[in-house]
Amino acid sequence: MAEKKYEPASDRYSKSVGYRYCGKSGLQLPLLSLGLWHNFGDVDDALEAEKMIQYAFDQGMTHFDLANNYGTPFGSAEINFGKILKKYFSNHRDEMIISTKAGHEMWEGPYGDGGSRKYMIASLEQSLKRLQLEYVDIFYSHRFDPHTPIEETMGALSDMVKQGKALYVGISKYPIEKAYEAYQILRANGTPCFINQDRYHIFDRHIEQQVLPLAQKNGNGFIAFSPLAQGILSDKYLNGIPENSRAAHSYGFLQKNQITPELIGKVKELNMLAAKRGQTLAQMALAWCLRDEQVNSVIIGTSSVKQLQDNIVALKNLTFTDDELWRIGELGA
Ligand SMILES: NC(=O)c1ccc[n+]([C@@H]2O[C@H](COP(=O)([O-])OP(=O)(O)OC[C@H]3O[C@@H](n4cnc5c(N)ncnc54)[C@H](OP(=O)(O)O)[C@@H]3O)[C@@H](O)[C@H]2O)c1
Repeated sequence: MAEKKYEPASDRYSKSVGYRYCGKSGLQLPLLSLGLWHNFGDVDDALEAEKMIQYAFDQGMTHFDLANNYGTPFGSAEINFGKILKKYFSNHRDEMIISTKAGHEMWEGPYGDGGSRKYMIASLEQSLKRLQLEYVDIFYSHRFDPHTPIEETMGALSDMVKQGKALYVGISKYPIEKAYEAYQILRANGTPCFINQDRYHIFDRHIEQQVLPLAQKNGNGFIAFSPLAQGILSDKYLNGIPENSRAAHSYGFLQKNQITPELIGKVKELNMLAAKRGQTLAQMALAWCLRDEQVNSVIIGTSSVKQLQDNIVALKNLTFTDDELWRIGELGA
């Protein structure tokens, strides 16, 4: 019997994950976005990757976050996502927010890394080819490059918008004073910064003091990455390092030596707190990131549809008592 062809769910918005306006822009982002850093490369399960994109879209998760170097090998997440888009979503491009980035090492030689105009523009051209798209919705400078004048990097971002290759621009992991400069330059160029992307989870709250207030003042949005600390903020590592987990892989970015007994002691306490709230730890960790409406969206990176299903349930309870917040603060950063 022929396999039934996938059709996006017709009720994807009525039962959806919900949306928040990104900063002062008119564009809404889903509370949960799907990131393709891990789990979508050539070393990963292609069928599960396809199912995750389909499931996410069916839940109203309209935002897919990529970068030139995502996947093992570099670029493979964009290639694989591009194929999935073409196969199933060619009639749904206008319902999707697709982002990519350039800034980290991508190809050999002096022009495949950093923030030069040469690298940024060549990289976006390459990403568009891999994705089989004419434009991306958001193009980011993936990191601040101290060797390139910030005007050069921002100028390249602005020109990509003016050429129609990106609709919006963003920055990621910029030191606060450089974020401030980037915002000024992008505004002067006529292409205001749309979004700042940075790490945010219970064990890393560095954005709360300056990054979020500056984004609010500038009117740009904020999107959090690694909300589960790459999986540490789940029940996955409570009893050791399971096979097939990110920490067990030789290629991922989570190293076994990061899973220390001291850290797991705290994770166990957080796990008990989550259970008292009627949530899994992963659900509580996501809800905690989203408790502040200034966090427009949280980018999750899942390795299975089941994880996606579990994580979406987090949205049922985004409120915390003062006692819960205090305890999380004590155990976290
Ligand atoms: N701008 C930047 O520099 C930057 C940096 C990092 C990430 N990002 C973006 O943020 C995205 C998310 O980052 P991340 O992958 O580190 O996010 P994360 O959500 O903190 O970690 C994802 C990992 O957590 C585990 N997980 C997820 N849901 C789970 C559940 N319900 N139960 C148990 N384990 C669960 C899975 O690990 P297993 O694989 O072990 O199952 C999954 O691969 C990336 O894909 C990327 O788009 C951006």
